[in-house]
Parts: sequence; C-alpha cells; structure tokens
Amino acid sequence: MHDPKAIKAAVQEHYGRAISSGSCCGGGGSATCTEVQLYGPEMLAQLPEDVVTTSFGCGNALALATLQPGEVVIDLGSGGGLEVLLAAQQVGPTGFVYGLDMTEEMLATARRNAERVGASNVSFLQGEIENIPLPDQSVDVIMSNCVINLVPDKGQVLHDAFRVLRPGGRLAVSDIVFDGDITSLPIPEETLRSALSWSACFGGALTMADYERLLRAAGFADIELEVLRRYTLADLRDEGSEMLDGLPAEVLPLLEGRVTSCAIRARRYASR
Ligand SMILES: C[S@@+](CC[C@H](N)C(=O)[O-])C[C@H]1O[C@@H](n2cnc3c(N)ncnc32)[C@H](O)[C@@H]1O
Repeated sequence: MHDPKAIKAAVQEHYGRAISSGSCCGGGGSATCTEVQLYGPEMLAQLPEDVVTTSFGCGNALALATLQPGEVVIDLGSGGGLEVLLAAQQVGPTGFVYGLDMTEEMLATARRNAERVGASNVSFLQGEIENIPLPDQSVDVIMSNCVINLVPDKGQVLHDAFRVLRPGGRLAVSDIVFDGDITSLPIPEETLRSALSWSACFGGALTMADYERLLRAAGFADIELEVLRRYTLADLRDEGSEMLDGLPAEVLPLLEGRVTSCAIRARRYASR
C-alpha cells in the first residue's frame, strides 16, 4: 500500500474498530496489549480498569517524559486517553495536557474516560498529528506512544512537533523502529512493508538512522534512540498470525530481533 490517503483511511478504520470492539489491541494487534503493564501497578491502580484497557501503546512515553508540575504537554495520537490522564496527574492543576487524535471513536472514549475520572486539566482535540492544532511554541513536552510509525509523512509530524514546542522543550516518544538497514535484506522494501501490517504498527516503522535524520532535519538536538524491546518472530506472529505469511522463508530469520520498540528522546534548544 503506497497511497498516503489509503494508509490513513485504513489506520483510522482499524483503530475506530479496535476501540469500538472493546479489545485492548483490537485483534491483529497494535504492537501488543501487554505493554500497558509497563506503567506499573501503582500508576494503573489510579484509574478504573476499563480505562486502563483502552491502551494501544508499545512502550511508556510517560516515563520518558519525566513530567513536572505546571508543564503543558501534548500527546500525539492519544487514543483512549490513558497516557493523557496519567500525565494530567503528574503536571497537576497548574499544568495542562492535550490529547490529539484523528479517530472519532478514540476521541469519544478518551473524553468519556476523562469525565469518569474528573480530569479538568485535559482537552482532547480532533486532528492530524501532521498539522497540530496549537500555536507555535505553546507546549513544554511532546509525548507519543506507538503512533508516528502509522503516519505516511513522518518528517512533517516531527517538523510540526518542533514548531509547537517551546525553546528548551523536549520530545518523549515510544515507537516501533527497525534496527539496521532494511534495504540490505534480500527482499524489496515495499514487499516487506506490505507483509508486515501498517495498521499494527510494523509496516510503516522507520529505521533508527532515518528517525535520527528526520529529527535532526526538523531542528531537534540531543537525540537518543534506545532499544527497549526486540520482537522475535514468535512475537510478530502473536501480533497477527498472517503477518509473516507473505515473506519468503529465507527472509524470516533475518528479521529476528530487527523490529524493536524504542524510546526516543530529543530536545529543542533554548536558543532556537
Ligand atoms: C497504536 S494507537 C496508540 C494510541 C495511544 N497512544 C496508546 O498508547 O494507547 C494509534 C493512535 O494514533 C491515532 N493516529 C494514527 N495516525 C494519526 C494521525 N495521522 N493523526 C492523528 N492521530 C493518528 C489512531 O487514531 C490511534 O488512536
């Protein structure tokens, strides 16, 4: 699938269906339900159980963000709102957290969740993370958990994230990332990407080198990418049994451990 409009429509349809079905990953996966446990029992205990299970992340962007009271935060692709609600507790009444998502069903769930827990320092915005509906230099922290891989134009997302970030602000992202040069595999890149599902967060993943390059081009500094988890072939099969079916047998061992969940940190220097 190459057409950006078709990719976005498929992603929107996938997540609209996933949240409406009430399942954690929506079957067919979004880089695994079990990642919600990364928040730890104490933090999750602060929210009702059905709020916790509306999570589709692949890491813990909140832990990366090390939020401080009074900060203004945006979560790009906020889904059912779990991380926004946890972030809202950390920034407290003097801070504010925006969630931004393009999928109506996700926004409806997130707004309902916010109402249920009585969060007054949050707002869920409908829109695309390529065009963040906030003014220049208006937030201290950009968070995002397992979303940027889903967007066709990742450079535009990072460019707009830099725009809304205040000088001195930081980016804290969890995402699925390929480790190594996928063009060196004995299979055309497009065939590989089509076989791994885009909507399940694998097919659209950047390589580590491309992530760093795009962050730098957007203006970010102090860029760090840290592999937190390597997916085995068995993990990938668990995410969607049909996912690897389209790939030649000799390519499969070369993929073992190459698909990762990464912590990505970067900063907008105070002087820019
Ligand atoms: C894998 S889910 C992650 C949701 C949430 N961050 C979490 O950890 O549970 C991806 C979310 O990103 C949203 N999304 C994908 N592409 C988007 C885009 N271009 N603009 C806004 N939202 C997008 C989807 O609607 C979905 O809610």
